[in-house]
Amino acid sequence: EQNMTSLIMIFGATGDLAKRKLFPSLYRLFSKNKLDKFAVIGVARRTLTNEEFQQSVRESVVSALGNKDNLDEFVSHFYYQSHDVADSSSYITLRKFADKIDDNYQLEGNRIFYLAMAPEFFGPIALHLKSDGLTDVKGYKRLVIEKPFGHDLESAKELNKQIRSAFLEKEVYRIDHYLGKEMVRNIEVIRFANAIFEPLWNNRYISNIQITSSETLGVEERGRYYETSGALRDMLQNHMMQMVALLAMEPPIKLTTDEIRSEKVRVFRALRMVEGDDVNNYFVRGQYGEGTIDEKQVPKYRDEIMVDKESNTETFVAGKIMIDNFRWAGVPFYIRTGKRMAAKSTKIVVQFKDIPMNLYYQTDKLLNPNLLVIHIQPEEGITLHLNAKKAGGHLDAQEVKLSFANTGVHAMNTPEGYEKLLYDCMRGDATNFTHWEEVAYSWAFVDKISEAWKNAKADFPNYEAGSMGPKEADELLEKDGRFWWPVT
Ligand code: BG6
Repeated sequence: EQNMTSLIMIFGATGDLAKRKLFPSLYRLFSKNKLDKFAVIGVARRTLTNEEFQQSVRESVVSALGNKDNLDEFVSHFYYQSHDVADSSSYITLRKFADKIDDNYQLEGNRIFYLAMAPEFFGPIALHLKSDGLTDVKGYKRLVIEKPFGHDLESAKELNKQIRSAFLEKEVYRIDHYLGKEMVRNIEVIRFANAIFEPLWNNRYISNIQITSSETLGVEERGRYYETSGALRDMLQNHMMQMVALLAMEPPIKLTTDEIRSEKVRVFRALRMVEGDDVNNYFVRGQYGEGTIDEKQVPKYRDEIMVDKESNTETFVAGKIMIDNFRWAGVPFYIRTGKRMAAKSTKIVVQFKDIPMNLYYQTDKLLNPNLLVIHIQPEEGITLHLNAKKAGGHLDAQEVKLSFANTGVHAMNTPEGYEKLLYDCMRGDATNFTHWEEVAYSWAFVDKISEAWKNAKADFPNYEAGSMGPKEADELLEKDGRFWWPVT
């Protein structure tokens, strides 16, 4: 039985994430009757009345989902508290307020602290929550924490230490919003519920796996953060590595949080570490120059606001990740991700090995290998590429595609990622949040790459906005006798 009764405290309630994602997602849970008793306290520095805050919640729901008739009731659950994150007396005021709301709504002392604000405050807030008594509740307490979780392994460890002095590991919900995506969650089901895939899911039958997550947006207004992050920390350390883990993990014994997360950790433990000069053999970095996107001329990265004119920050990364275990020895996982690319698209292509002998031709060319394509976004679905006889006289083969589209079937959009993640957190299901060990291993892997890059100035910009990245990313696969399957 699930207890969906909770007081949700959102730190950073006037910020972008709260408005764009959290309020609309909470509304959707509310309108599907998935919340029992609940109240939300928005916390931020600015002074606002409850009414003003409720109005901003209302506006964000309307702008995300359109007008709704039960909005008044929904926003009546929202309260606001102006707060100074560095000041104990501010936390004590907040605690008293929270206790009062808890009483009024009979929230059983269940509390979710959602940190949707600048990462430098994560640690200090966690410490204050404990020392000023906010975590001292009779129900459950959970901490939801946005990325980035540290900047490298060392800072992540420090942050984790602070958090763990106030919360147990099982009370910490580290968000990776890719784990809220419907088709990312589908990876496991596709693998472990199909007799035709699982026996082939290894180095005897799979040639390589390609994961592309491309964006058309540039760095927008996030230059200050992005300059210290780059594509490696912003996308690869978390979202891309999580997809690799889900594709590569062994079947869990059971579908429990601990079993699934420990199988993912085992993948990270088998990662081949690359460092020093060797990094160039496995990874490629890029930075966008000017170009055209959607018929609009866009500036180069170095001309974006809050970006250094000679910035050495990568806006693109491609790499070859090797997992040195029995199942995957010899099978590259090629990944690439970047900003200002040709399309907004996240796709996984599993390329099966060629059949032992080729009897058929596809008008003058060799048979295409079988591909399983998992479409994460914007379309959601799977496509299996097969070969079949071309209709008509000859014994020519042609490629046919079996497709399943998620959207077509349900005739509606699948739930927003954040809606599912919030729901999971309220149910106490941490499966689709990252465990500390996953974070630690992926930082250790990424740190070696950033160390190698830090000391060598790159020849940037090296790809045109609106392209699929620098030519070196193509060469990375060409060296192995392969190419990127088109994903756009
Ligand atoms: C975020 C990154 O984690 O993911 C952003 O910080 C990036 O830079 C975003 O744009 C991409 O997410 P999505 O869901 O649009 O693929």
